[in-house]
Amino acid sequence: MNTKIVYAGLALIGILLIALVSKQFFFKRNTTMIALEKTFAMIKPDAVAAKHTGEIISAIESNGFTIVKMRKEQLSKEKAQQFYAVHKAKPFFNELVDFVTSGPVVLMMLEKENAIADWRKLMGATDPLKAEEGTLRKRFGTDIGHNATHGSDAAQTAKEELAIFFS
Ligand code: CMP
Repeated sequence: MNTKIVYAGLALIGILLIALVSKQFFFKRNTTMIALEKTFAMIKPDAVAAKHTGEIISAIESNGFTIVKMRKEQLSKEKAQQFYAVHKAKPFFNELVDFVTSGPVVLMMLEKENAIADWRKLMGATDPLKAEEGTLRKRFGTDIGHNATHGSDAAQTAKEELAIFFS
């Protein structure tokens, strides 16, 4: 009788242990959540005109970004001024607006873990002459005013820039 009770107790402990391990396994699986982030990206008129759109999109996808939304558009002066409003007081503002409205651009909403920082890394430094080898601006940009791509620089900027083009 005592032996039966001991066996039953051991079986019960075994079942409880299995249940506990399984619960932890499923708990871990279900709570490993990847924080996806969205950013705004633009392929500028120089890169579009030079037919680098395909290569840039390919780099975006092979670097793990999901293109959530995308369209090709000729920006109006008003839209360009709104988009670059933060640079309104800069001496290059008019030049910047003229350039970004000089031909069609490709507008994108990109999604990925760390999308904002990773897209900026993939683009490289603002000035293509200072950009790292292999980056998009190094590959496809000419100078600081003609630098092939744009990307939001922070979470708040990404929110605002995405709202300008995708709402
Ligand atoms: P972008 O990332 O689109 O953000 C603002 C843009 O202003 C920047 O890329 C450059 O193309 C442009 N820009 C920044 N500094 C200068 C400069 N000194 N002269 C001309 N254009 C500039």
